[in-house]
Amino acid sequence: MKKQSRRYFIKDKLWKGFILSVFSPISTLANHDKLSFENEDIFNKNGTINWKNIKELFTLASTRKHFNTASIGPSPIIVQKATIESIKNINKYAIENHKAVEKSRIKLAKFIHSNPEQLALIKNATEGMNIIARSMNLKPGDEVILTSEEHIGGSAPWISLQNEIGIKVTVIDILGKEEKVLDLLKSIITNQTKVISISHITCTTGTILPIKDIIQLCKKHQIQSVIDGTQALGQISVNIEKLQPSFYIASCHKWLFGPKGTGILYLNKDFLNDTPPLFAGAYTDQKFDLIKGIYTYKKHASRYEYGTINAPILNGLEVSVTFIDNIGIDHVEARGRELASRFRTKITPNQKITILTSSEPSKSASMVTFKIKDKNSSTVCSELRKNSNTILRSVTENKMNAIRASFAIYIDEKEVDELVYKILTIANS
Ligand SMILES: Cc1ncc(COP(=O)(O)O)c(C=O)c1O
Repeated sequence: MKKQSRRYFIKDKLWKGFILSVFSPISTLANHDKLSFENEDIFNKNGTINWKNIKELFTLASTRKHFNTASIGPSPIIVQKATIESIKNINKYAIENHKAVEKSRIKLAKFIHSNPEQLALIKNATEGMNIIARSMNLKPGDEVILTSEEHIGGSAPWISLQNEIGIKVTVIDILGKEEKVLDLLKSIITNQTKVISISHITCTTGTILPIKDIIQLCKKHQIQSVIDGTQALGQISVNIEKLQPSFYIASCHKWLFGPKGTGILYLNKDFLNDTPPLFAGAYTDQKFDLIKGIYTYKKHASRYEYGTINAPILNGLEVSVTFIDNIGIDHVEARGRELASRFRTKITPNQKITILTSSEPSKSASMVTFKIKDKNSSTVCSELRKNSNTILRSVTENKMNAIRASFAIYIDEKEVDELVYKILTIANS
């Protein structure tokens, strides 16, 4: 089959499967489970993945070289179509479709090996971190420890509480000493430390932090562990059951390729039983009587999905998990590592380039952050964008002056090699 016709054959088949699943108004937004790939589209006869076919399931312009999944991930066609079809159906029947959340919740919970009752579907990681920070009932003098590599969405919620109520935020500098983070934490926690809020994978250098050990440390000292999994979800496999954090938050619109404005919030059981939700309203309540003044909150994470929600993006989110599941998160992770490693190997010999991301598999996956001697990272990124439609992220946090490249599954080897060429040309200029 010729390239063009095969491409449309695959898209057509996926789309027809989708149409079948939503054809009746009753099954409307419910039945995305039927959305599965045909094996021959994905798997080669020897069991390896046909990445060329996967690439064709996205709509990124062929001229756009997007190496910035860590900022925003494009959604594949089936996710876009599920979302759009859901918008149409909601408006056709004028329904709210709050129930649509449940299927997505169950799918997401299974994907990260957690209990659906402890998982809320929210807008993004920033919302999740604010909900946790503002619900924890921290008092002046209570200490929260962060690392110097936290994103503004993961750190500003704590800094604002420091400004507003006088909690103490301690920031440990981990740049270049990521492997010592556990010892650094051990050496500074005190009786005042109530929270350690830390990334699973840092947004700066793409470093996988030893969160399993950090969570254990927290448990030992009765400290709440808040894990920002925004860069981990969809980049590597995440297993909440094994990690057992107090809280785990993530945006789903990066490596998971979900609709923009989707995120997850995992909460521990004590918190669900003992802490009122930040926002009270419809769907947060177990019992409500306006006249008698009764309001009790649900002991279920769904209480964070207050009021009318954006059901179509949650339908799309469910399909994005199906998409990754069908390929297999292990395959996705391995492919990202393969592309990142190809890039790293080819730029490493250049004396003017310093790579900040560890090459050890336990410490990094699909992201590579590097510096180019005597070059300003923001200037390099904006020129690459302007001159060749190539998107990388300038890492200015912590005065790093570095460049971050993300390698997701819609990228191919040729694009990696072209990027290598561009970076080496800049380094040598
Ligand atoms: C580690 C981390 N946390 C939080 C965020 C904030 O994500 P959002 O803007 O989706 O809330 C980001 C965004 O890049 C991030 O990388």
